[in-house]
Amino acid sequence: MSPLSARTLASLVRGWREATSAPAYAALADRIRLLILDGRVPLGTRIPAERDLAAQLGVSRTTVSAAYAELRDAGFLDSVRGSGSAARLPARAPVSIDNPQSGYLDFSKAALSATPALADAARAAAAELPAYLGDRGFDPIGLPVLRQAVADRYAARGLPTSPDQIMITIGAQHAIALLARTMLGRGDSALVESPSYPHAFEALRLAGARLIPVSVTTEDGWDEAGLEQAIRRTSPAMGYVMPDFHNPTGRTMSPELRERMLGLAAAQGTTIVSDETMAELTIDRPDNPLPLAAYGPAVLIGSVGKTVWGGVRIGWIRAERQVIQRLTRARSAGDLGTPILEQLVVTNLLEQYDAILDLRRRQLRAGRDYLEVALRSAFPEWRVPRPDGGITSWVNLGEPVSSQLTLAARNEGLLLAAGPRFGIDGAFERFLRIPFGNSPDEMDRAVGALGRAWAALSHGPLADENVLAEVV
Ligand SMILES: Cc1ncc(COP(=O)(O)O)c(C=O)c1O
Repeated sequence: MSPLSARTLASLVRGWREATSAPAYAALADRIRLLILDGRVPLGTRIPAERDLAAQLGVSRTTVSAAYAELRDAGFLDSVRGSGSAARLPARAPVSIDNPQSGYLDFSKAALSATPALADAARAAAAELPAYLGDRGFDPIGLPVLRQAVADRYAARGLPTSPDQIMITIGAQHAIALLARTMLGRGDSALVESPSYPHAFEALRLAGARLIPVSVTTEDGWDEAGLEQAIRRTSPAMGYVMPDFHNPTGRTMSPELRERMLGLAAAQGTTIVSDETMAELTIDRPDNPLPLAAYGPAVLIGSVGKTVWGGVRIGWIRAERQVIQRLTRARSAGDLGTPILEQLVVTNLLEQYDAILDLRRRQLRAGRDYLEVALRSAFPEWRVPRPDGGITSWVNLGEPVSSQLTLAARNEGLLLAAGPRFGIDGAFERFLRIPFGNSPDEMDRAVGALGRAWAALSHGPLADENVLAEVV
């Protein structure tokens, strides 16, 4: 595992001393602990030498030494002979947060429980399966019926598409990773929004990319000048964007900016990849722009993970035929195809997709409104936005305390993804992403836990520290 530089760690813990009354070593240890727990510092990573980190942070070596000692005692660091310390988790096996036994309320995921239509669609798919059993079952591109259904859906949304422009993938994450490793080489630049979906950062980095951030805010949306400059100046090999219900801000990119961005990208040789996982989760957006490829050349990613269920691992890529062919050839190094039964389930569900989306819209509207009222009355000092689609509220806490609040919320049994999880350099300590796809009862409990955590920021020891938050 590659070592983490003192500079990188210092930027990941940026603001660690602000708004805390804890001793410096304890505040630093807390922030590093959260980085390990939420995956920003992968297990096995060698952390910087005490002296180097102390110099970067402008503190005494004793402070860093005490922080490391605390992390070592709590089981978060291992001494590695001759080469310092490496990140680890305490010996007790991590409890899956999806396991209700863990007792944690999970608000780290922007996702919904399964659509009620799923069970019937699965039964219908099982009845259709025998027709496919004579084949070998390895399907790296997707069943013709599903590729057709996905293509038809694009056409119905205003973007004519033929089935050979579609590859079915194992969810959108698989699509992002496959595109990244097929289109990027070591040292290439990849433009990303900041904040953005953290597992996309990971996939792009794993492919060797250097990330070029462009700001998106709840109030103003995309930094248009910054976006144009970044494309012009760095000619990135790829741009990964979320023009519809951007995760986490919920913003939608205007048709004018879509066109301008794609024109510029084409001129610079940049492939724009549009993650449209959230695109059909409209609540009350006044205008619905077309899928991005209707405005210029773009590769689109879709998924039923947020509309149907995260447990149905089906997504897709829409691209030119030659790109789909290239991806098909590259795919086998990572996986040998998408499960057939799951594809049949989704083919069935796409036949009733409008009704499914209608139900989601009502659910999300109720969830958004409920959370908004609850948060505004419990935390009048926070800025709670009113997104017109998607599943998340990107709340401005008014103070740079997101990591501390996330740690304190754990003590109250609530798992959250801290704001910096969505940045590339430790930014967004003033923000917290709160999903509104949970039930009113869960939201009440979450707001109650947040209230207690807010009142007790960064006091007291952490409970059940090795429960991992796996943000989506
Ligand atoms: C923006 C975005 N892209 C991709 C994904 C991954 O989707 P899937 O579950 O289809 O792999 C998520 C889900 O968490 C997401 O929020």
